[in-house]
Amino acid sequence: MYFITKPQTIKIPEKFVERDYVLPRIASVQNPLRVAVFISGSGSGLNAMLEYQKTPRAYLISLILSDNEDALGLNYGSKYGVKATAIPLPHTQDKIHQRLSHEAMIDEELVNSNIELIVLNGYMRIITPLFINKWKGRIINIHPSLLPKFPGIYAHRDAINAKTNESGCTVHLVDDGIDTGHILAQKKVSVSPNETIKTLQEKIKKIEHQLYPEIINLLSTGQYHSKS
Ligand code: GRF
Repeated sequence: MYFITKPQTIKIPEKFVERDYVLPRIASVQNPLRVAVFISGSGSGLNAMLEYQKTPRAYLISLILSDNEDALGLNYGSKYGVKATAIPLPHTQDKIHQRLSHEAMIDEELVNSNIELIVLNGYMRIITPLFINKWKGRIINIHPSLLPKFPGIYAHRDAINAKTNESGCTVHLVDDGIDTGHILAQKKVSVSPNETIKTLQEKIKKIEHQLYPEIINLLSTGQYHSKS
């Protein structure tokens, strides 16, 4: 197991209850959590999740959603019999209006599909606080570094430049910062002196593909829910 903290540790301070994480319902294999996976590219992590759920789990991917119509990962929809849809940014001059209307379309799709948990898996857009606040506690991300080290899109490059001898991946709840939400689990890899961005990325993807589905399943079964 890969916990850096034990499950059942999400303690929400009284005064933040209104705005803090609201975790998904506790689900079961018989009544799995309906999950949407957000992607922008190849979807190798999505594929790992779909393989993992070949054995019945407490979550079920019910929607694959991409902001990129050409995302190769959308093809996993027909392969695994899951609805896959692209919702690209709408054409509009006003950038704020563009982001908000994009997210409104996404939210409508999620509601129509009765989605209970959003899994970001290689989704390359920054989500607005408005959208996060609605789903807070029910949006989860995986990041390819040992957060809080190396947040942002250049995690591998930054790890190599820092000459660190270990890196890894982090599964965390999403808040409105960049890779700052509550950490659920981490797993380490070693970084060799001759590591390249590509070799480090491949090494980390391997552990991500194992860790992420397991942690989503644990979250779905209530293992991170506070008992108090
Ligand atoms: C993963 O490395 C993840 O950490 C990052 O995006 C990558 C997903 O890659 N957030 P893929 O599109 O699933 O291959």
